[in-house]
Amino acid sequence: QGRLVLGIETSCDETAAAIVRRSADGRAEILSNTVLSQIEEHQAFGGVVPEIAARAHVEALDGIIRAALADAKVTLSDVGAVAATVGPGLVGGLLVGAMTGKAIASARGLPFVAVNHLEGHALSPRLSDAVTYPYLLLLVSGGHSQILLVRGLGDYERWGTTIDDALGEAFDKTAKLLELPHPGGPNVEKMAAAGDAKRFSLPRPMKGEERLDFSFSGLKTALRLVAEAHAPLSDQDVADLCAAFQLAAAETVADRIRRALKRFRAVFPDLDEPVLGVAGGVGANLAIRAALTAECEAAGARLVAPPLDLCSDNGAMIAYAGLERLEAGLTDPRDVAVRSRWPL
Ligand code: KG4
Ligand code: ZN
Repeated sequence: QGRLVLGIETSCDETAAAIVRRSADGRAEILSNTVLSQIEEHQAFGGVVPEIAARAHVEALDGIIRAALADAKVTLSDVGAVAATVGPGLVGGLLVGAMTGKAIASARGLPFVAVNHLEGHALSPRLSDAVTYPYLLLLVSGGHSQILLVRGLGDYERWGTTIDDALGEAFDKTAKLLELPHPGGPNVEKMAAAGDAKRFSLPRPMKGEERLDFSFSGLKTALRLVAEAHAPLSDQDVADLCAAFQLAAAETVADRIRRALKRFRAVFPDLDEPVLGVAGGVGANLAIRAALTAECEAAGARLVAPPLDLCSDNGAMIAYAGLERLEAGLTDPRDVAVRSRWPL
C-alpha cells in the first residue's frame, strides 16, 4: 500500500477534498471523495460570483477535509502527502485551497504538490479505469473545451480548443436565455428530453474544418434569433429549442472527435485500441455521450467516460494527479504561487 494523498480542489464553485492511494495491485484507490457544491449560493445571480465563491470555500473547506478523512476512516496523521489545485481558476478560491494545503503540509512535515486543475481532469481516465498512456482526452466543462493528446505525465499536446465559449458555458447561456435555472447544462438536458430536435434547425459550427477547434458563439446567436422570433415562448418551444441546441452541440463534438481519432491513429498506428477519455461536467450529458460512443465504435476506439463524480470538479482527481507527480519525484516548494491562467 502506498502513502495516502490528500487532494484539495477550490478553483471554481466546488469545495472538494479526497483521499487517494496506490494500492498493492498497482491500481489507484479512492478512499473518499467529498464534494460540496455552491450551486445554491450562486443561483440567484445566474452564475458563479468569485467573491462569494472564495468566502464559501473559507467557510466550508475545513469541514470538507474533516469529512474526507472521516469517510476514508483515517486521521490527518495517516496522510503522507498533500496536493492542492493552484490554477487555473478563480484566484480567491485557489488561495483558500492552496494556503490550507500548504499549512497542513507544513504542520505535518509532508510533501506538497501544486496541481494544475486541467492535469487533474486529463489524468482522470487513469484514476477511474487505469488507462495507459497515450490517449486522447475530450475536456468539456464550464470553463474549457479542449481536445488533448495525453502522451504521459506532464506531456500534453493541445490539439483543439474553443475560440470563444466553452461548451458548458454555451449550455449555461442557452439556459439563461430560455430562463431555465443555473446551472444550465442539466436543465437544458432535462427540457430537451421533451423536445423535438428537428423543429428548429441550428448551425453546426466548424463542422468539416480540418483544425480541431470549437466555436459555440454562432450557435448561441442562432438560438437567440430563433427564440426572439418565436417570443413569447411556450414550454414546448423551450423544450424544442433545448433539444435542437443539444443535438447541434452533440453533432459538433462528434465531428471534431471523428477527426481527432483519425489523427490519433495516424500518430500511433501500432496501438490496438485507441482510448478516448472524457472529462468535465458536460461529459455527464447523455446525448453527448451517445454521440461519442458512436464515433468510438466507428473508429474502433474505446470510450472511457468516468462516473459523473469523477467527470465534474472533484478532489480525487487532484489527489491522483498529486500521486502521479509524487511517484515521478515531483514536489513543490511552499512558496509556489496560485495562477488564474495556466495552460497545460
Ligand atoms: O466540470 P464542471 O463541473 O465544472 C467546471 O466548469 O470546471 O462543469 C460544469 C459545467 C457547467 O457548465 C454545466 O452546465 C455543465 O458542465 N453540465 C452539463 C451537464 N451537467 C453539467 N452540460 C450539459 N449536460 C449536462 N447533463
Ligand atoms: Zn473543471
